[in-house]
Amino acid sequence: MTKANDIKKEILSLVRKYHTEAHGPSEFIEGITRISYGGRVFDHKELTNLVDSALEFWLTTGRYSYMFETHLAEFLGIAHCILTNSGSSANLLAISALTSEKLGDRRIQKGDEVITVAAGFPTTVTPMLQNGLVPVFVDVTLPTYNIDVAMLEEARSSRTRAVMLAHTMGNPFDIESVLRFCEKHDLWFIEDNCDALGSKYDGKFTGTFGHIGTQSFYPPHHITMGEGGALYTGDPLVKRLIESFRDWGRDCHCASGRDNTCGNRFSQKFGELPVGYDHKYVFSHFGYNLKVTDMQAAIGCAQLEKLPLFISSRMKNWNMLHEGISSLADRFILPEPTKNSIPCWFGYLFTLREGAGFTREDIVSHLEARGIQTRMLFAGNLVKHPCFDGLRKRGEGYRLAGDLSTTDKIMRNTFWIGVYPGITEKMMEFVIRTIHGFFYKR
Ligand SMILES: Cc1ncc(COP(=O)(O)O)c(C=O)c1O
Repeated sequence: MTKANDIKKEILSLVRKYHTEAHGPSEFIEGITRISYGGRVFDHKELTNLVDSALEFWLTTGRYSYMFETHLAEFLGIAHCILTNSGSSANLLAISALTSEKLGDRRIQKGDEVITVAAGFPTTVTPMLQNGLVPVFVDVTLPTYNIDVAMLEEARSSRTRAVMLAHTMGNPFDIESVLRFCEKHDLWFIEDNCDALGSKYDGKFTGTFGHIGTQSFYPPHHITMGEGGALYTGDPLVKRLIESFRDWGRDCHCASGRDNTCGNRFSQKFGELPVGYDHKYVFSHFGYNLKVTDMQAAIGCAQLEKLPLFISSRMKNWNMLHEGISSLADRFILPEPTKNSIPCWFGYLFTLREGAGFTREDIVSHLEARGIQTRMLFAGNLVKHPCFDGLRKRGEGYRLAGDLSTTDKIMRNTFWIGVYPGITEKMMEFVIRTIHGFFYKR
């Protein structure tokens, strides 16, 4: 083993050197270097962790995964963090877990309604439809881009069982109002925190208020493992249900490669199986396999060490941009943090004011031509997409609570640019100058 350890040391030291040569800093050239909306920010630690895990060759969920889960839970101040292979999987697991028969009368059943918004990412909503639930869409408000909480009561029906919302672009929605509404009507509350890691509401991290919070680690997100996601919960039963749906639907909760954690592997009775049927192969749910590999988690562990720095860097970049373009508030509706919150922004949102005298395409083309990458607010209005064509035609499967006029406005007039830690002060100065430059010509 000493020989193997020596070789490993040598390999990891070479990997470190490789990082310096292959991924070292490059010069920023205005108008040439692409300023992307988000991306991986890493050093040699991510690469050495990845190679270390590859050499260990455990491959599936293992020690790096448990380390990541423990450290992220500690950082956020939540009892349980459960890793999965994407943010979309995390959302699917969140909804699926709440359909478990093990929740008795509290479980969500086919035809039940979930209050949400259409101005966001599709896979916040998709798991509802995949589970036979009915999304009920409420409009959002500007300049927070989050749910209009004044519409919550109107959106409720006798079938309402849950509220599931994302903190748009890292800006927390009005958690206090949503929590009060959920408590009053005994509803499940799921926070899609995929774009908001590090955001705070009332001094506490978002994602930790609801029964379940979800996270994405896709590269543009606050930290990455390539593909990856997580769920948070304070409820030990919900944790078990999430793990069961993630791990094929099994009843057993042994970690990968471990047997007989419960000490009753061959002595229990389940369903109509014979007494003592191996607990390892008892299935209490119609589950999936949405586990993460340990190599992904190894990258995540290195990223986690940088999270405090990433959070402050996103906030600094957003504030610099906000100040730099504040004089353009007559052209754009500029974003504002929700009351009582400190957002860790995913990006910087612009919405063209009525009669702005230019189109979104004009400004977006101006920025893209100068290397500044732009994005729309994901689906804009999800209900307008081809995936809804069939449901829309048949008038089934979803419900609109009031009109979605602000959502439509976002679909037509909103775009965003990056504030991620890969954007330096020099780049941000260029971004600000370029935005102002668009108006000099007019
Ligand atoms: C709000 C929100 N939820 C869910 C997801 C899905 O995450 P993933 O890409 O990891 O599946 C995204 C995507 O980035 C997102 O922005």
